Amino acid sequence: MKKLWGGRFTKTAEEWVDEFGASIPFDQQLVEEDIEGSIAHVTMLGKCGILPNDDVEVIKAGLLSLLEKAKQGQLEFSVAYEDIHLNIEKMLIDEIGPVGGKLHTGRSRNDQVATDMHLYLRKRVKEIIELIQELQKVLIEKAEAHVETLIPGYTHLQRAQPISFAHHLLAYFWMLERDRERFTESLKRINKSPLGAGALAGTTFPIDRHLTAELLGFDGIYENSIDAVSDRDFIIEFLSNSSMLMMHLSRFCEELILWSSQEFRFVEMDDAFATGSSIMPQKKNPDMAELIRGKTGRVYGNLFGLLTVMKGTPLAYNKDMQEDKEGMFDTVKTVIGSLKIFAGMIATMKVNEQVMEQATKQDFSNATELADYLAKKGMPFREAHEVVGQLVLICIEKGIFLADLPLSDYKKASELFEQDIYDALNPYTAVNRRQSAGGTGFTEVRQAIEKAKMLLTADNGK
Ligand code: ARG
Repeated sequence: MKKLWGGRFTKTAEEWVDEFGASIPFDQQLVEEDIEGSIAHVTMLGKCGILPNDDVEVIKAGLLSLLEKAKQGQLEFSVAYEDIHLNIEKMLIDEIGPVGGKLHTGRSRNDQVATDMHLYLRKRVKEIIELIQELQKVLIEKAEAHVETLIPGYTHLQRAQPISFAHHLLAYFWMLERDRERFTESLKRINKSPLGAGALAGTTFPIDRHLTAELLGFDGIYENSIDAVSDRDFIIEFLSNSSMLMMHLSRFCEELILWSSQEFRFVEMDDAFATGSSIMPQKKNPDMAELIRGKTGRVYGNLFGLLTVMKGTPLAYNKDMQEDKEGMFDTVKTVIGSLKIFAGMIATMKVNEQVMEQATKQDFSNATELADYLAKKGMPFREAHEVVGQLVLICIEKGIFLADLPLSDYKKASELFEQDIYDALNPYTAVNRRQSAGGTGFTEVRQAIEKAKMLLTADNGK
């Protein structure tokens, strides 16, 4: 079949070669953006007197009709026309006749594809920002219900100090807040127009790049035409921000999976977000959490894939850059899916408060309280650490916990110990006393919840 660019060719490629080069199987996702970009372009061509208004009107009407069909899923794409841009151009010419061939005046597929990607990511990143916000809201709600639910806090996956469960949940709120910031910040760079850069050098037609930028809702234009068509930073940045977000979700998944195990039993996933085993009737697996953890790997892969594609491509456009798309589409789908699943998972999970609380009483995670107790009475902290370390050792030998050790033993270790140590050893007291800024004390946590809520409502009003 004769190509739209076939003038200087004497024979056509075989179908399997076309297939290898085509991007239409995946870039058809850009159909709406592609048509919107073309409508802005042709409008500008009319306004600048490059095309007669009659032609512009016919082309616009044709494009609008294609857009309508695209929304209804009625367009049939063909590998013979390589990509979304040529497919649409061909359909336009079929629809309105040879005048459709005027659309591509003063434009190249190179600035066209870049424009499509900018428009696409702008839409998707906004959607992702909203979904992050939704998840943050769910976290706040869960946190509010669990300010005074105690859970062991871990370092090295060893019980360290008891904390409020809400405090733990809010740690993720703040990670997500940074993710939201990063995505929002990236919109500044996504929202720049490459359109009008041509193949790489600009065009001899008296186009108005600012007009097309404005029509498409961009905040400005790429300053340099070569950069405009060569740049894929905005996609790499998107993949990087997505990787960071997925890393956060994946860490949370790892905790949910651990906490769902028989060994922990801190939480139970709702039936809607778990699955059974085909052989073991007793099983309830936290599949969704495992899947998100697993998909994180593929998102990192997409980031590294594109970084690697770009590292050796000379300016300006190279066909290598067609490889920017699949990883991006895949990441968009994964991130959106993961955020939605996560919100559902957290909102519906059952928190076994008693099990968590019981866990804080069956370990030595209150040892710091004793050391602090002595330090507050004037003993250098290093010395206090040593004294308590020896008490822990005595308990381990006796097979008891610090709260079970009689005062006489404490007195032997230091005269500074009084009856009130038993109160200090209580995990509830231990948590509540950590009133330093950003700490796990209940008042602090309640304030943190208020702050988090304010942040979300302030941004919602935007
Ligand atoms: N399908 C191409 C891509 O996705 C569009 C740009 C093609 N430009 C060209 N000069 N071959 O990158």
